[in-house]
Amino acid sequence: MPTLEIDGRKIQVEDGVTVIRAAERLGIEIPHYCWHPGLSIAGNCRMCLVEIEKTPKLQIACNTRATDGMVVHTTSEKTKVAQRAVLEFLLVNHPIDCPVCDQAGECKLQEYYMDYDRQRSRVPLPAKVHKRKAKPIGPLVILDQERCVLCSRCVRFLDEVTHTSELAFYQRGDHVDLDLAPGRTLDNPYSGNVVDICPVGALTNRDFRFRARVWYLERTESVCGACANGCNIEIYQREGTIYRFQPRENDGVNRYWMCDAGRMSYRDLQGEGRLTQPLVRGAEQFAPATWEGAPAAVAARLGEGGVGIVVSAPAANEESFLLRRLAAAVNARLAGVSWSPADAFHDDFLVKADKNPNTQGLRLQGVPLDGALDELLGAKDLRTLILHRSDLAAWRGAGSALERVPFLIVLDANLCETAQYANVVLPVGTYAESDGTFTNHAGRVQRFRQAVAPPGEARPGWQALDALLAAARVGVRFDEAEAVFVELAAECGPFQGMSYASLGTAGQPAGPANPPR
Ligand code: SF4
Ligand code: SF4
Ligand code: FES
Repeated sequence: MPTLEIDGRKIQVEDGVTVIRAAERLGIEIPHYCWHPGLSIAGNCRMCLVEIEKTPKLQIACNTRATDGMVVHTTSEKTKVAQRAVLEFLLVNHPIDCPVCDQAGECKLQEYYMDYDRQRSRVPLPAKVHKRKAKPIGPLVILDQERCVLCSRCVRFLDEVTHTSELAFYQRGDHVDLDLAPGRTLDNPYSGNVVDICPVGALTNRDFRFRARVWYLERTESVCGACANGCNIEIYQREGTIYRFQPRENDGVNRYWMCDAGRMSYRDLQGEGRLTQPLVRGAEQFAPATWEGAPAAVAARLGEGGVGIVVSAPAANEESFLLRRLAAAVNARLAGVSWSPADAFHDDFLVKADKNPNTQGLRLQGVPLDGALDELLGAKDLRTLILHRSDLAAWRGAGSALERVPFLIVLDANLCETAQYANVVLPVGTYAESDGTFTNHAGRVQRFRQAVAPPGEARPGWQALDALLAAARVGVRFDEAEAVFVELAAECGPFQGMSYASLGTAGQPAGPANPPR
């Protein structure tokens, strides 16, 4: 375990740790372009040069291992001169189109220029080498060749992570171009990640570019709900509109990456057709109702017996807990469903065939899944059916079964096909509009946080169910999702001992898959 000193501060690190990593642990920033913790070390940008005592030349911090007694200076005059020189070199042919570049606000050239350089350019703009601008290279990515600082992060990602190698460098000297390999398109299922790791505006996202300046956007930590992997993400929003998803580091789940389908799934959360207020069926049509009236109309039916409750795997752990509580209180049959298209894309990296975020959560809570729905729908005495985020008509063409049920309650985010059969419709928010937890395919329980408000009078799922339970006089009322989770953790073995605090930002594996107590 070597002990080294960086800028006068001592730190002990494990064998093999590099200077850039050791500095990071001390909270000391060493500027860098080519180094990325999820990729091999290329050592080509030289931005991370530091002075190390007793070595004749400056060394790159990204590829120098800490040794015992090493003394490193990251802000010495020699280091500063080198940082300025490297930046001047990188900017020699850079087009400086910051005012019209969509990376502005999150560009490492801009940031490092302000932090480590601030010299006037010695190269007049017309003398710069010009290259191709705004070249679409795949469905999600656009390339501006003259903004590229040749760090090779994107090339290494495609060589080492996706093993698809669509991009490479061509030509020599200041005519080097990053470009597609002949005949290739950047269309692998993880292509969007190259945009996230490009430190400058050379690779931008065709969906996001020019839609919002990043400094206007607010970020919220969440979990992707588009498959059972539960990749950790950040939701970027402004004034209630979601603009993009980006991956958030979690070594135990997705490392630094996410798939393109998950990245684009933000669109599904805010499309047309959202339900915005409770509805109760009148003689023929739906009539707008209130959050007092609609749950009361449901509660009046629940006491009559013959109740079935269907919860589907997009529902959060907190929602299935409340539905289980309701089912136990009114002696209802409970069935869980976890539907995915039969030919759903999946691979052995991140993407799972199960396109639901919480199938495992339902399992761990003991919600009966396989075959339970058929049994429930086939029950002769079924008189009242609650469908929670379960669009039976769309998935099963179960229209005739739904017509047979005398009283149908639908809780959903969208005016789904099933809702047309409903007597009462309660509008619920998506996971971007609520706090809660999902349990991923491997049993890791992970928090998602409310990024935006549900539209109109829609409520987060746990809150809508809380209103329903209150109307039915079941249990106590909850004022936040966390309180529901506390009760779930107290009641259900696999979640025992967990709290939102213990889940933190990275989640926590559910305990041994004990049956719920
Ligand atoms: S496009 Fe971006 S990530 Fe790729 S080499 Fe150029 S600067 Fe690096
Ligand atoms: S792999 Fe699954 S959880 Fe991860 S980003 Fe893709 S769809 Fe979302
Ligand atoms: S980050 Fe070290 S050489 Fe590029």
